Amino acid sequence: MKLKKFIAFFLLPMFLLFVSGCDFNDKKEIKIGVAMPTKTRQRWNQDGANIEKGLRNQGYVADLQYADNKPELQISQIAAMINEGCKVIIVGAVDVNSLAGILEEAKSAGIAVISYDRLIMNTDAVDYYATFDNLAVGIVQGEYIEDKLGLKDGKGPYNLEITAGSEDDSNAFYFFEGAMEILRPYIKSGKLVVNSGQTTFKECAISHWKENISRERMTGILQKYYANKNLDVALCANDSTAFGVINALRAAGYNKGDKKMPLITGQDADKKNLKMIVSGEQTMSIFKDTRILADQTVKMVKAIVEGKDPETNDMGNYYNGVKILPSFLIRPLFVDKDNYREVLFDSGYYNESVLEE
Ligand code: BGC
Repeated sequence: MKLKKFIAFFLLPMFLLFVSGCDFNDKKEIKIGVAMPTKTRQRWNQDGANIEKGLRNQGYVADLQYADNKPELQISQIAAMINEGCKVIIVGAVDVNSLAGILEEAKSAGIAVISYDRLIMNTDAVDYYATFDNLAVGIVQGEYIEDKLGLKDGKGPYNLEITAGSEDDSNAFYFFEGAMEILRPYIKSGKLVVNSGQTTFKECAISHWKENISRERMTGILQKYYANKNLDVALCANDSTAFGVINALRAAGYNKGDKKMPLITGQDADKKNLKMIVSGEQTMSIFKDTRILADQTVKMVKAIVEGKDPETNDMGNYYNGVKILPSFLIRPLFVDKDNYREVLFDSGYYNESVLEE
């Protein structure tokens, strides 16, 4: 009896602990590389943290690296991930055109690569793409402007200026194209007037999505073309470019007296931009629930590790110059003054206290 008790209460639990420990250690040996572009934008910190947590929950070890927006640093980080034997590498690219060489090495080493959020170009050494629907981001921004200005009802003309994303980021082009698909007809008909004449992606692009570059460009535009006119709408590709534009507008006397802020779009629903949406300086942002993207990406990793086909929902829209990537696209939503509580707080994405931070 005593022996039975000893086995039941001591030996058996010890054995189970040992067995589960072995299982855990086995999984722990599966390393996954996570190469993120920068820590300077809120979203990538969230993306990295969410992916790391998700991988850990599956028992994998994550090697999470940030490349400080430097393409060469990202290449050396990926090289280290290859050397340490990562099974899968998830890449949020700094420069989508600079990775073909290093990813060829990953491919030769039998490592699967997931292009995360940004479409990695000109290589067949990338296997899957997990992202928000980039074209839809631009379309939602464009439709928001169309709707709020009453363009469909023939209202206008309104003065518009356009700020796009970084030329080394393939997403920036999709955002631009999506929005312009909606707005171009109104520019053609004269209901939207771009006084600077800057309507091509190249003319509107902001290197590395930098706030200060966006501010300087808009300051120049306002001085040159809006000395005697008001800007009515600023299409901004994301929240950092919007922030730059808002600073230029503030300095030019907007948001004072009866000089109203224009309708301003954004993307990412960054905390500091959310505060500006609440205060009325920014009109809307695109909410990309990075928890869902991280979750979906971890599911892809799991399927790859287990030798299964990852779930995808788009097989035709994202061509990287060499191949069409099997993709998982997530639908973006807009957030503005009327729905931010429901979209951001009720979903648990943010706690209401972010407004006080
Ligand atoms: C992302 C955006 C982000 C931008 C700047 C893009 O690739 O899709 O969500 O605002 O990079 O970091």
